[in-house]
Amino acid sequence: MRRPTLLQTRSLPEAVEARAARDYEIRRPEGPDRALDSASLLHAAEGCEGILCAAGDALDAATIAALPDSVRIIATFSVGTDHIALDAARARGIAVTNTPEVLSVATAEIAMLLILMCARRAGEAERLLRAREWMGWAPTQLMGVTLEGKRLGILGMGRIGRELARMARGMGMAIHYRNRTRLPPAEEEGATFHAEDDAFLASCDVLSMHIPGGEATRHWLDSARIARLPRGAIVVNTGRGTTVDDAALCEALRAGHLRAAGLDVFTGEPAIFEGYYSAPNVTLLPHLGSATVETRDAMGLRCLENLDALLIHGTEPPHRAA
Ligand code: DGY
Repeated sequence: MRRPTLLQTRSLPEAVEARAARDYEIRRPEGPDRALDSASLLHAAEGCEGILCAAGDALDAATIAALPDSVRIIATFSVGTDHIALDAARARGIAVTNTPEVLSVATAEIAMLLILMCARRAGEAERLLRAREWMGWAPTQLMGVTLEGKRLGILGMGRIGRELARMARGMGMAIHYRNRTRLPPAEEEGATFHAEDDAFLASCDVLSMHIPGGEATRHWLDSARIARLPRGAIVVNTGRGTTVDDAALCEALRAGHLRAAGLDVFTGEPAIFEGYYSAPNVTLLPHLGSATVETRDAMGLRCLENLDALLIHGTEPPHRAA
């Protein structure tokens, strides 16, 4: 069987690499395992039929326009597609696929982890111990807030949002959500739908953000929306960093309008807005949402399902984003 040539931009889990190498002629760029800039990507894509890329790789409109004609599919190892100019790919007839469903539980777990860390001040507490400054148990030390009975507002009630709702219900939280469309009652499971931002934001003791990146959602959480959150609210973002106005969030944390924030995603990763480093009430994670062995294996296999469909079987890829 002829093996199609595949540009694999990043190191992938062992099982995924083994499976890819079985059926594809793999091209890997030399050097450290980092997101590829446009020039490196174009150079490495020469003669390839498929590109197996990941978040951060520069697949903007200009790069896609300059890809060799041999490229028929871009399979991204992510559910998010904001690093890929979908219109430019459509214009060139290049299929784009992503990895929905398989990372919903893992990402919801990280959202819940951040919610708990913020509510119980776990980051501050761990830093206290590591600094060897803990003087022992004290009745008023590092008091957080309990989640039971609090309202969790989920912005974007897709698969990840629904998984988080399931976990939060188990902790006794009331679920509110803001979504383009209302879920059917069976999927709502008692959650309160909000058709407008203001009423939604006013209902969030904790706001968890699960909306895609891109221009349409840039700085969705700005100073005006932050002001609508109840005083003492917690903000958690595991979607995309671009959806938050970092300066406005930092200011609200400094001023005490917000109790805490938990962030797994950032604008301009791996750079991080400078103000976050010194804010004691911010918990920072390095984009860990889908980082479990089970999930990353499943994401890789999903990429291969899509590549196999188009490049080996000549069929429609099952998870097409464009
Ligand atoms: C995703 O799948 O979109 C994760 O955020 C990794 O990029």
